[in-house]
Amino acid sequence: MERLDKIIASTGRWSRREVKNLIRQGRVLVDGVPPRSGEEKAEPESAEIMVNGEIITYRRYTWVMLNKPAGYLSATEDGRGKTVLDLLPPELQKQKLFPVGRLDKDTEGLLLLTNQGDLAHDLLSPRHHVDKVYYTRVAGRLTQEDCDAFAAGMTLDDGLVCLPAGLEILSAGAESEARVTLREGKFHQIKRMLAQRGKPVVYLERIAMGNLPLDSTLERGKFRFLTEKEVELLQKA
Ligand code: URA
Repeated sequence: MERLDKIIASTGRWSRREVKNLIRQGRVLVDGVPPRSGEEKAEPESAEIMVNGEIITYRRYTWVMLNKPAGYLSATEDGRGKTVLDLLPPELQKQKLFPVGRLDKDTEGLLLLTNQGDLAHDLLSPRHHVDKVYYTRVAGRLTQEDCDAFAAGMTLDDGLVCLPAGLEILSAGAESEARVTLREGKFHQIKRMLAQRGKPVVYLERIAMGNLPLDSTLERGKFRFLTEKEVELLQKA
């Protein structure tokens, strides 16, 4: 059994204070009956909880997809600048969410945030083979040799040994575009790999994690909750 205000706030749509008001206004029903207060307990998996006439689903863990803009750090706290948590509303900031892996400050695109530590850990572990897919623009003409070097697994001049990675050229010219697929996420990895090939990254965006693509309808800087299906997909990955 869980407190009603906790169950309703778990959706991330209302703060505990808002839940209190909703209950006071009689806009919450538990199995058809208005509760007296948010302190009342209910069985989150089986009770039918309605808010404003809509049945809500209890989320034990919260999963959020953020379309990260440049200029935000993938951290939960940083004295020096804005973090991705600053892009979430206060009620979500209270849920102890953390980013699933890091994107550099200037990297954009798909960033997942959650408070489910075990699944987050699995998604990042190279052992679990979850591909992280990026779109990049680089200075210089990408060639088949660059693709071969990525596929063979590069060892960088600074000693970093990289797992075999995918490099698919989308366009080649004075500036080139490519799709990069990694199974790991070492510090500045794509920038370091491409710098070593003499083709420094000009722009980088993550477009997918495993079988979860960045939602193309999600504007830069905006977030949405993952659906239960999407969390299941990640679990299967
Ligand atoms: N590789 C990078 O260099 N930066 C990122 O943000 C992600 C992958």
